[in-house]
Amino acid sequence: MAIIESYRMEDYLDLSEEELDRRISTAKEAMGDRLLILGHHYQQDDVIKFADFRGDSLKLSQEAARSQREFIVFCGVHFMAETADIVTGDAQKVILPDLTAGCSMADMADLYNVERAWKDITNIAGEANILPVTYVNSTADLKAFCGKKDGVVCTSSIAEKVIKWALDRTDKVFFFPDEHLGRNSAFKLGIPEDEIIVWHRDAPLGGNSENAIKKAKIILWNGFCSVHMLFLPKHVEYFRERYPGIKIIVHPECRREVVAISDLCGSTEYIIKTVKAAPPDTVWAVGTEINLVNRLRKEQPDKTIFFLSPTVCLCSTMYRIDPQHLCWVLENLVAGKVVNQVIVPDEEKRWAKIALERMLTL
Ligand code: 13P
Ligand code: SF4
Repeated sequence: MAIIESYRMEDYLDLSEEELDRRISTAKEAMGDRLLILGHHYQQDDVIKFADFRGDSLKLSQEAARSQREFIVFCGVHFMAETADIVTGDAQKVILPDLTAGCSMADMADLYNVERAWKDITNIAGEANILPVTYVNSTADLKAFCGKKDGVVCTSSIAEKVIKWALDRTDKVFFFPDEHLGRNSAFKLGIPEDEIIVWHRDAPLGGNSENAIKKAKIILWNGFCSVHMLFLPKHVEYFRERYPGIKIIVHPECRREVVAISDLCGSTEYIIKTVKAAPPDTVWAVGTEINLVNRLRKEQPDKTIFFLSPTVCLCSTMYRIDPQHLCWVLENLVAGKVVNQVIVPDEEKRWAKIALERMLTL
């Protein structure tokens, strides 16, 4: 590979696309089977083309858990890299090319406030009658909280199954941080609307009466994904009017009103598989992040694929993982330097792993 004189990130900013491509490929080759690159479906084309595996959150965490490779470079967001660190062995190192690649939804729930809410809820409902379920889009300390309380983690692809698992064991579920995934899953399980309540983190008792808490089957934290909030019922109506026979497929982080009038709903992996398996000449409108939809359109030229919203719904934090950062972390690895390692503290890791393993065995 080319001899680089400096490993400062700034020195990568002005490199041409061709040079970055060449240097990433060279560094990847030099690392050989010591390295695994994982890429989430929302990653930009110039990054995901270097991934050994692409997937949704579930598939990527399974892949990380299976891998014996020394270094795992995670092209995704911070909670995904944390999850990979939790499920991998002590000698393995997980690297996130840009540590500022977070998830705004995950940031909406923090341990202090979740513990406060848990105390209020269990004072009314009794701790034996409720289990916590955290969406994988959450910080490691919340996963650890679930591990300690006999709870579990879920991803968008198995949220329903996980909530059912919890409700088979207890009377209620406290679900965080995504209100919409929680509500969409509860509806699929046939939970009546008046047994689904929202916990507003700044209001006393989350804005609920004691009776409503006692009656609830599922209590939803009021977090959301700002990308998926941009899809609205009027967008579904627009496409239905203009393209009779069109299929609308959306991610379960979309609001209930959108999911209710769409044809299909599922994780990023499910969306890709479903559209790919559809007959040629079918027409689709897809409600999820734009990098995924644009790539699907390119890869499936025999179908007509629309983006469901007129607004550009881009996950700006996923987008922080760019070829510049990928090249920088890989060339450092070749030089024997680990930069941007994501490390979950041991005690947190131990409990979070319990909650994650419960999910992975389901
Ligand atoms: P998936 O698990 O469906 O890939 O979803 C991850 C995510 O962050 C969606 O916004
Ligand atoms: Fe988080 Fe939304 Fe981005 Fe997914 S799309 S990583 S939920 S901010």
